[in-house]
Amino acid sequence: MGAVVKYIGSKRALLPWIEDVVGRIAAIDPLREAVDLFSGSARVGHALKRMGLRVTANDLYAYAVTLARALVEADALSYPKERLEPILARLQALEGRAGWFTRTYCQASRYFQPHNGAKIEAIREAIELESAGDEHLRAILLCSLLLAADRVDSTTGIQMAYLKRWAPRSYHRLTLTYPPLLPGAGRAIQGDALEIAPQLEADLFYLDPPYNQHSYLGNYHLWETLVRWDKPATYGVARKRADVREHKSPFNSKRRAKGAMEKLLGSLRSKHLLLSFNNEGFLSMAELKALLKDWGYVICLERPYRRYVGARIGIYNPQGQKVGRVSHTENREFLFVATQSKRVQQALLTLAR
Ligand SMILES: C[S@@+](CC[C@H](N)C(=O)[O-])C[C@H]1O[C@@H](n2cnc3c(N)ncnc32)[C@H](O)[C@@H]1O
Repeated sequence: MGAVVKYIGSKRALLPWIEDVVGRIAAIDPLREAVDLFSGSARVGHALKRMGLRVTANDLYAYAVTLARALVEADALSYPKERLEPILARLQALEGRAGWFTRTYCQASRYFQPHNGAKIEAIREAIELESAGDEHLRAILLCSLLLAADRVDSTTGIQMAYLKRWAPRSYHRLTLTYPPLLPGAGRAIQGDALEIAPQLEADLFYLDPPYNQHSYLGNYHLWETLVRWDKPATYGVARKRADVREHKSPFNSKRRAKGAMEKLLGSLRSKHLLLSFNNEGFLSMAELKALLKDWGYVICLERPYRRYVGARIGIYNPQGQKVGRVSHTENREFLFVATQSKRVQQALLTLAR
């Protein structure tokens, strides 16, 4: 999937690895249903759907669930290009309308150039009318707008800050495109993984929880606001939503992450489980292995991975001077497989060597 939002912790580069492992499991024990419990940009759920699985995607936040509603839940056969393109063309042709969004994110802060901000605003207002109560159409149009906005933003990929100088891509014109929808049905739900997991059952669960203290709502507050369109009170230079302060996932807490993982694993009803983590997270490889052992046969796969772009660019002060040193630009990415099937474990052991 080419067109997906920039998302920290996203499994874009690791997708072929995940697909390969799922393919190997399916070759031994055919898979029908999968759950992507922390779906984020929805790219893993999308890849699993493309592999022919019926996917349920879940995330805490409205922007992530909207992406999943378009990319996992909606059926491309009901929303083909021929049907969507006239709508996208109408939205694209709207005159920009500078209001609250443009003032907040293009003037008081600098996430988008004002001409794109005003365009985003006009399109966002019109989406409610165009979708006329059709939740899938609404999600598809919002997904198209989010992807278009992401292509002309002026950040390093997270919204904790914006660049001091406009990013070259921010000069481009915001352009709506047809999102990479897939045929077939799926499901998108919004909830806390710990509460939702016991209600679900599937052949395979994919778990990709946050690894550290950085809250996804804080990192992607602007996408949440764009989707909810609730003009929230904002604070600080980054103009984050006020509710960023209140929302904390237990997986963002060093003290609570282990207990949360233990509770989650204890509640899963599935034959196979894939868990992504890395060596910079709150839980060590040994701790995760110990937690998973009670669940089934465990295989731990590992790869080097380039850290997020901000870590590679460097650390700067507000004057644009380089101030800190980035300790390293690569980390180790883990993919744990836990399975009830000894045959699956045997088949995957060759990958672990
Ligand atoms: C590492 S990211 C997932 C990235 C995703 N696999 C991708 O490729 O884009 C973790 C996700 O978990 C979500 N999240 C955090 N706490 C959660 C919770 N308690 N329940 C459900 N989702 C949660 C965050 O909003 C974030 O999207």
